[in-house]
Amino acid sequence: MKILMVTSEANPLCKTGGLADVVYSLSKSLARKEEVSIFLPFYTQIVSPQWKDKMIKIDDFETKVSWRAQHSEIYYLQIESVNYYLLKNDQYFSRDKLYGFEDDTERFAFFVLACKQFLERHESIFEIIHLHDWQPGMLPLLLKRSNNPKFSNLKFVLTIHNPAFRGYFDSYFLGDFYGIDDKSYRDGTIRLNNMVSTLKAAIMCVDKITTVSSTHANELLNDTNSQGLNNCLELRKDDFIGILNGIDYKEFSPNFDSKIAYKFNQKNFKNKKLLNKEALLKEKDLVVDNAPLFGMVSRLTWQKGLDILIPNIRYLLEKGNKVIVLGSGEYKYEQQLEALQSQFPHHLSICIGYNDTLAHKIYAASDFFLMPSLFEPCGLSQMISLKYATVPIVRLIGGLKDTIIPYMNGNIEVANGFGFYNYTNEALKSTLDWCLNVYDEHPDEFTALQVNALKAQNNWHNSSNKYLKVYKQLVKKF
Ligand code: GLC
Repeated sequence: MKILMVTSEANPLCKTGGLADVVYSLSKSLARKEEVSIFLPFYTQIVSPQWKDKMIKIDDFETKVSWRAQHSEIYYLQIESVNYYLLKNDQYFSRDKLYGFEDDTERFAFFVLACKQFLERHESIFEIIHLHDWQPGMLPLLLKRSNNPKFSNLKFVLTIHNPAFRGYFDSYFLGDFYGIDDKSYRDGTIRLNNMVSTLKAAIMCVDKITTVSSTHANELLNDTNSQGLNNCLELRKDDFIGILNGIDYKEFSPNFDSKIAYKFNQKNFKNKKLLNKEALLKEKDLVVDNAPLFGMVSRLTWQKGLDILIPNIRYLLEKGNKVIVLGSGEYKYEQQLEALQSQFPHHLSICIGYNDTLAHKIYAASDFFLMPSLFEPCGLSQMISLKYATVPIVRLIGGLKDTIIPYMNGNIEVANGFGFYNYTNEALKSTLDWCLNVYDEHPDEFTALQVNALKAQNNWHNSSNKYLKVYKQLVKKF
């Protein structure tokens, strides 16, 4: 089977979040059995000579973004048996970051239009087009409208990684960017809150919709706060399922991890984690004592629970604990965290930006991992923490609920983390109090939680088989 992933980011070339990890790991896993390709923009951020030197230009053509004539170039390379097709256009993709520009609507209209041409011109015929999030959302509609016999057997899958981004734009731009009339807007197919939504366009036009955990699939169907997405998903309910993401144990295995100071396994993790902790505390000029270290590696956005977390970080610091945060995102959160750091310079370390080596060190060195998300379709960091015997503290929603067994009285044989439900400062605070109590007063229970964490199995094998089943059903259906 020939599968094409269409995505705005994919590892190892470019990443802002978990989407890049998932597209890469899923594709690699599928490529053991099927022919898998990825279509994505060629951003200037793709600099590593390891990849750039291997790319070859295979096509170039003119793409009409309505009246604008734009130049498209397609570059190709193969990474771990996966074919990458990169769309180059410097006006749209040579910027200082991947997204967050006023003209994102136009940039991804161009991306979709050029992808359509790529499919028309490309010699091989894909059977499955797997779209990720809002950016490629208009592609099925455009391909279906084109009535090209080359696409008559094509099946589409959409995975929703982050429903907070719906690809909204004014219906005027259907003509101005896509060069199409507003029929699908007027009949409601692609309309959400009186705007066009490319995410809704995909939901309504694909053959199967997935999101990245079962609990999140239920949340999207029932949540009254889903701003209308629940209504259109309700219409597509029979074709909508949750498939939990996995993590790449080749990248995240403390026993083989060359980025951490002391490698460890299930037998020696206690002692080695302590050595990793000391090394990181010294590196970050934090006090070395018996108090626990709380780690966080995350985008610093409202989704990740920063509103209830920041006051609670202060609470932890006032009690003499240590916290280390790595990530970047909304300016106000970065500022608040940096202000706290200047008050507690030897207990709090804030590292703005992304640093892969430091991320691995935080997973290996921390006692607890903080993840009090407001919403979390899946979440990967809690699974990585489990693998590094770092006990996750999570809000029990979305994929966090599906991967963490919260410690409650009487379940120490299976529990592997701490959890709470209410999105309030107090709920998080009382959970933190309990964590501190277990850590200080019941070290055996804390060790039991770590041992259970190490037993968790979240590899890609199971998940990619579920996707494969979805693809096969669609191809067979036809
Ligand atoms: C998004 C979601 C996150 C998920 C990731 C990969 O970043 O917010 O929960 O793990 O996509 O699917």
